Amino acid sequence: MFTQTAAFYDAIYAARGKAYAAEADALAAWIRTVAPESTTLLDVGCGTGGHLAEFERLGFEVTGIDADLKMVALARVRCPEVTIEPANMTLFDLGKRFDVVVSLFGTTAYARLPNHLDETIARCAAHLEPGGVLVVEPFLDASEFRPGFVDAVFVDEPNRKIARMSVSKQMGKIAILDFHYLVATLQGVERLFERHELGLFDEATYRSAFAAAGLALERLAFAASFGRPLYAGLIRVGGS
Ligand SMILES: C[S@@+](CC[C@H](N)C(=O)[O-])C[C@H]1O[C@@H](n2cnc3c(N)ncnc32)[C@H](O)[C@@H]1O
Repeated sequence: MFTQTAAFYDAIYAARGKAYAAEADALAAWIRTVAPESTTLLDVGCGTGGHLAEFERLGFEVTGIDADLKMVALARVRCPEVTIEPANMTLFDLGKRFDVVVSLFGTTAYARLPNHLDETIARCAAHLEPGGVLVVEPFLDASEFRPGFVDAVFVDEPNRKIARMSVSKQMGKIAILDFHYLVATLQGVERLFERHELGLFDEATYRSAFAAAGLALERLAFAASFGRPLYAGLIRVGGS
């Protein structure tokens, strides 16, 4: 996970042009068409709270969980009024239900294996109110992922420069992203290394995980903001 590099996460994805506000706007507009009474929202794998802050701006009562303590700490700084807890998405039980559960920016791929994806989707579904909606933004599937892809992102601030480079690898249905960081600050130049392993789950694998949790998967196209399809599932009123 981002144990060594949580402090650089926002700068890296800002440099990449990640648009949390536009994504939340698009998603909230859709949620309000299918579940107009929704108020409570749980973000599973909320990271540094980029979406939490935007859903809070849009009037949702938000809660976040993330397995990485440093991400949780950063999200709490960004959203001081919000409950944000350390928890593992494959087995969390918050003892309450939400109108909306989201898991965005490929977080569910960190489950790595289909059986852990099933557990994750089941835990998300178990936290939905009757009539509630789950929205998952998947990572790439095996047909989209390109092993050997050479990637670099650079952050150029007055007193901090970051270079993050990787050459993607694949082991079976798992993407291996070995991120090499060079970080220059007034304290000097630091090198860091972090491996991320993500399951290359296809739509059928998500559809099966949703079905096992009592949800019919619907594919949403939000190309203008997310640039990727999202997977949504609705719990029927009265539960299922
Ligand atoms: C790519 S980041 C996305 C973060 C955030 N959703 C966003 O849009 O910026 C993936 C997040 O999933 C979290 N994560 C990975 N495995 C997890 C697990 N088993 N349970 C909960 N969170 C997990 C990581 O700590 C990280 O914050």
